[in-house]
Amino acid sequence: MSGPDDTMRQAVRYDGGTISLHWLNATLALGLWLVGTFLEDLVPKGTLRSGIWSAHFDLGFVLTGLVVAFLIWRRAGGRNLPVEDPGPLHRLAKATHAALYVLLLVIVGLGVANAFVRGVSLGPISLPQVGDPEWRRSLTHWHGLAANMLMAVALFHAVAALVHHYLWHDAVLLRMLPRRS
Ligand code: HEM
Ligand code: HEM
Repeated sequence: MSGPDDTMRQAVRYDGGTISLHWLNATLALGLWLVGTFLEDLVPKGTLRSGIWSAHFDLGFVLTGLVVAFLIWRRAGGRNLPVEDPGPLHRLAKATHAALYVLLLVIVGLGVANAFVRGVSLGPISLPQVGDPEWRRSLTHWHGLAANMLMAVALFHAVAALVHHYLWHDAVLLRMLPRRS
């Protein structure tokens, strides 16, 4: 059911590019974290496990492009909305968003570097092996650590969005959701 209130809220939604890129980035980041964190424990060594790792690398490159596209879009074409709630909470939200962007960039940077150090294959394309293979261990360590930090910050960010929606009844979450037909 929609009412006049919904119509008003729809007017302040983010643009389609921002909404699509936000949810694609969020879904891929969560999926890659689940694979990176649980694969070795859940799937025995073999072709299935290495196939899923390859998917992590392929989708990792896709996410790298999407993160860059999201950043460029937010600064160039994306709609900027008026601040719902100015004051210290606004500064906290801004800092959280900045932390999400920085962590995403660190993770994809270390992931891509590691993919070259390992010389992995992306479908039919084999990446040239670059650098010292010994770097793999520390690149994986910092990549995994930053991935865990991303999930912690994203959890805080998601809880904040749900608090806005369910406790404070404002439009902060609705404006990042696709328009209902
Ligand atoms: C937000 C996005 C991503 C998340 C959350 C994520 C998460 C993870 C996690 C948790 C691990 C396991 C780390 C460990 O064992 O300590 C891992 C490993 C790895 N990831 Fe990612 N990853 C992401 C994006 C990428 C990207 C963009 C690439 C590069 C194309 C990539 C390439 C790798 C590589 C090469 C490994 C190491 C595998 C190994 O040497 O055992 N990841 N990732
Ligand atoms: C890994 C998961 C996620 C990442 C990396 C992420 C990242 C981001 C970033 C970077 C922004 C700022 C966009 C900008 O203005 O430039 C943002 C905004 C937003 N996100 Fe997420 N997000 C994630 C998950 C979620 C989830 C699960 C929810 C909801 C439950 C959510 C709700 C929102 C909302 C409502 C905004 C707009 C806030 C506002 O208008 O001030 N996000 N997100």
